[in-house]
Amino acid sequence: MPAGFLIAVEGIDGSGKTTQARLLVEWLGKRGFEARYTCEPTSGPFGKILRSMAYARRVDSRVEALLFAADRLHHLERVIMPLLEKGFIVVSDRYLHSSLAYQSVATGEQEWVEEINKFARRPDLGIYLDIGASEGLNRLRRRRKRSRFEDEAFLERVREKYLEYVGRGELVRVDARGPVNEVFSEVASIVERALSDRR
Ligand code: TYD
Repeated sequence: MPAGFLIAVEGIDGSGKTTQARLLVEWLGKRGFEARYTCEPTSGPFGKILRSMAYARRVDSRVEALLFAADRLHHLERVIMPLLEKGFIVVSDRYLHSSLAYQSVATGEQEWVEEINKFARRPDLGIYLDIGASEGLNRLRRRRKRSRFEDEAFLERVREKYLEYVGRGELVRVDARGPVNEVFSEVASIVERALSDRR
């Protein structure tokens, strides 16, 4: 039985993660891999609490950080690990680095955020779709979609945090400003390389 492979697709709001993650699962399927799409926040019990709190004012960012971490461990245990054990490629639309970026900025406590997420295994490959905060927010507005974080300055700081993890070699940066198919061809070539390296 081949070992599974966990790919995380990351980026700020409006970077196109969901589109790229779905295209990736489809592309992997066509190439004969068993691949599954999943996302965070999940539709499980902690994800439901997070969604119900999403637009509430004055939720303590530390409480949110704990809930995102709880949602992730639950997701890992119930969904991701069983699939990886069966040899699937799991593509997660947001995962660990969403907390390392967003909650580190929101709480100002990066070490603590790392600590409460220490049981979440690192992804085998983390792809960071890079777009500026103002462009990401414009895309959301065009889709008439709300974000829990609509503050451009905040999202720009989140972007910098993500780029810090790119610098540490934990995420691979993809320029996400271009058309969907161009961004995807870069995503696909990174995944192809990562999958051939693991053999
Ligand atoms: P998003 O991927 O935009 O979900 P949807 O498309 O369903 O709205 O994620 C929702 C928000 O949650 C997004 O603004 C980022 C935030 N988030 C965190 O702050 N930390 C996390 O760990 C995760 C998973 C998401």
